[in-house]
Amino acid sequence: MPVATVIFDAYGTLFDVAGAARRAAAEPGGARLGAVWPKLAEDWRRKQLEYSWLRAIMGQHADFAQVTADGLDWALEAAGIGDRTLRARLLALYDELPAYPEVPAVLQALKAMGLPRAILSNGTPAMLAAATRSAGIEGLLDACLSVESVGIFKPDARVYALVTARFACAPGEVLFISSNGWDVAGAAAFGFRAVWVNRSGLPFDRLPANPRHILPDLTGLPALAGAG
Ligand code: LAC
Repeated sequence: MPVATVIFDAYGTLFDVAGAARRAAAEPGGARLGAVWPKLAEDWRRKQLEYSWLRAIMGQHADFAQVTADGLDWALEAAGIGDRTLRARLLALYDELPAYPEVPAVLQALKAMGLPRAILSNGTPAMLAAATRSAGIEGLLDACLSVESVGIFKPDARVYALVTARFACAPGEVLFISSNGWDVAGAAAFGFRAVWVNRSGLPFDRLPANPRHILPDLTGLPALAGAG
């Protein structure tokens, strides 16, 4: 069965989530982040994701902007930083995260192959619009699908079903790419052909479904999509 559409996770896959803290630390108001920004970025991401899963289990959905701000507040308090201006700056920078360097060329190559390309993300429509515009890739995407249409976070199956509904295709025709192992597991369990981008050389998560392919970054994706 040929690939009908190529779907990307956003945060950590197309956009470098450490980029906000890294950039803020290099700005005049960010001296306080100097040595601690990598740990702050890691805590922020971990808490953001934990809160998304816990809210899903609790049946207490709040959008990803809220969960992102809550995760940042935890991380800042853990770092002993109470600077409200810096908090606001970090949240603003989350809307301008850098795309990984290979992203524009990979999207362009997939477009040239005639393959539809879209994002499926926990991010709100506003967050995704800002990030894709800032990275200059909005014109290379056919759609940005947000979990806000179903009001629950990944890896709930209702989220992955947004793709098959939007592109009127079977799960097995979807090539799904994520750097988040738990997202890959959710997508594979739904029936997508899941590709894990393992940028950090991590072991794969012990969950009930596995990736079909593993790539070190996105560069090899067009060849993989072309192989069907
Ligand atoms: C997303 C998170 C999981 O973009 O990275 O959905």
